[in-house]
Amino acid sequence: MENLNELANVAVLAAKEARNTVKKFIESGFKIDMKGPANLVTEADLAAEKIIVETIKKTYPEHSFLGEEKVKAETNAENLWVIDPIDGTTNFTHDVPVVGISIAFSHKGEVVVGCVLNPFTDDLYLAIKGKGSTLNDKPIKVSSAEKISDSLIATGFYYGLGNDLNVSLDVIKTLIDKECHGIRRMGAASIDLCYVASGKFDAYFELKLNCWDFAAGMLLVREAGGIITNPAGIDLTLNDSQLIASNTSVHPHILAILNERKSS
Ligand code: IPD
Ligand code: CA
Ligand code: CA
Repeated sequence: MENLNELANVAVLAAKEARNTVKKFIESGFKIDMKGPANLVTEADLAAEKIIVETIKKTYPEHSFLGEEKVKAETNAENLWVIDPIDGTTNFTHDVPVVGISIAFSHKGEVVVGCVLNPFTDDLYLAIKGKGSTLNDKPIKVSSAEKISDSLIATGFYYGLGNDLNVSLDVIKTLIDKECHGIRRMGAASIDLCYVASGKFDAYFELKLNCWDFAAGMLLVREAGGIITNPAGIDLTLNDSQLIASNTSVHPHILAILNERKSS
């Protein structure tokens, strides 16, 4: 495998190039299309993915790319970049500054570099396997909350309606009944995971995501001392779509509530 620091430098460079592109669209305005009901895509999403892939290819022309918009590869490709050029597109189109340019590098199915850059705030979250997670170069770690009643918990909803939405709403209600500090729906999975990694949120769950939504954030949570699993409690992989991320201490409590609601 390539050198981890070099991979991280390339991920950050690509994220910054995409940030510059996205900022130009923020200033000039952009065209919005619908991919499906309540599922938006803009010119900026497409341009940002393109510049990310072009930037990385300058250093790693042989690598594979899996992105939300155009580039497609298998999740088990030996050297794979997993890209969400704008995570939080709905926020972006409404000028809500909660957006992540999310870039991860996976070697043989294992994410070893994760980078999330918010183009509105310039906050840069970076994780390198075995070397920790940082926010703007400063180390970050997960919170120390031990109980639901000490926790601020984030979630998200997928665009298609169905039983998983009912489960999410039931879990939210149970968490409120158990007197959690609050529920947040930020609208960008990558940022939710960064907020768990940096101890702002104590936990986050969502029941229908794609790997580009969580690939970078998954490593950020782990390298910050947290845990991220599927509802069975098994470490998350790029092939999962349902996830719970937390500071570890509150994990069993959230898993129990989620599994109880799923089976009822
Ligand atoms: C979405 C965001 C949102 C989550 C959705 C994702 P997009 O990604 O991460 O928070 O709830 O499930 O699809 O479409 O803005 O890249
Ligand atoms: Ca996304
Ligand atoms: Ca996206």
